[in-house]
Amino acid sequence: FNPLRLHGKQLHDFCTLKELPETYAWEPVDCHGHHSGDCGTTRVEPVPVVDLYDPNAERLIGHACKTWGAFQIINHEIPRRLLDDVESASRRLFSLPLRQKLRAARDPDGVTGYGPAPISSFFSKQMWSEGFTIFGSPLEHARQLWPSNYMRFCDIIEEYSREMQRLAGKLVWLMLGSLGITKEDIQLPGPEAGYREASAALQLNSYPACPDPDRAVGLAAHTDSTLITILHQNGTGGLQLFREGCGWVTVPPLAGGLVINVGDLLHILSNGLYPSVLHRAMVNRTRHRLSVAYLYGPPRDVLISPVSKVVEPGRVPLYRPVSWSEYLGIKAKHFRNALSLVRLCS
Ligand code: SIN
Ligand code: FE2
Repeated sequence: FNPLRLHGKQLHDFCTLKELPETYAWEPVDCHGHHSGDCGTTRVEPVPVVDLYDPNAERLIGHACKTWGAFQIINHEIPRRLLDDVESASRRLFSLPLRQKLRAARDPDGVTGYGPAPISSFFSKQMWSEGFTIFGSPLEHARQLWPSNYMRFCDIIEEYSREMQRLAGKLVWLMLGSLGITKEDIQLPGPEAGYREASAALQLNSYPACPDPDRAVGLAAHTDSTLITILHQNGTGGLQLFREGCGWVTVPPLAGGLVINVGDLLHILSNGLYPSVLHRAMVNRTRHRLSVAYLYGPPRDVLISPVSKVVEPGRVPLYRPVSWSEYLGIKAKHFRNALSLVRLCS
């Protein structure tokens, strides 16, 4: 048992902890969340699953965005082999000893690298998870982790990012299409060209088995500062979405499926019609959970504002124009209040 520190926080090799340290024990508030079909006396529908081969996919996606701010997809054409590869690359990284992972630690003001969840600075309690953020190339950090054997990791990350970028572009345009928005209405990389102009990051998350899961939190509640997020979770559930009128609803892992979250920027673009979804990750006693989040946004300096087509006649836009880089700065300072800080008075 050998605690190490990063940015003033004490980190642990989770597998050495036989009980939950107080710094990881959260207030026992509504820990469990509902599974579909179980919400007190009212029946909760499950989080929608959309088959991308379905000719009605666009309409179904629009409905899911409006009611949930999230959905799962199948038939997305990301090869199963690639999902397995990124999962094992991630498992290989997180199973290294803590001391070795810290060689690839995130800089205090940097983005890329190993460390606690990027949102952990907003909470006094620590989260039962560790993460590795990739923005741009992971090469430098991968070299630190595996000096003579880093290329496999980099190749998988590169292939996965490329495939995710293609899928994200397609999904964003399905979502915009479901709002009646076309390329003429908006300055974003188009559906068939220019995906390279978009910006994105990849966040690998690891949630080790936890000796006291009811008092621990894997990842505290937040919305994503993206247009959309594409999440792959391994066979172990833990992701929960907040649904108005019902509370926390578990998203069951779907073999080969991917979870799509509406982020704050799509919320703004759609003038709040597609609300960004509040979500969190819980942990469990016996299984190691892994997830890979692809965080997709517009080119960093493009201004995002409510598209006039979706602002109903006689109504006003609810948000002022903001670029992704400005919004990330606001979020990094104000976290929960970021959306309301770019909201116009009305
Ligand atoms: C995330 O919100 O970035 C990850 C959620 C999860 O691990 O399910
Ligand atoms: Fe998230």
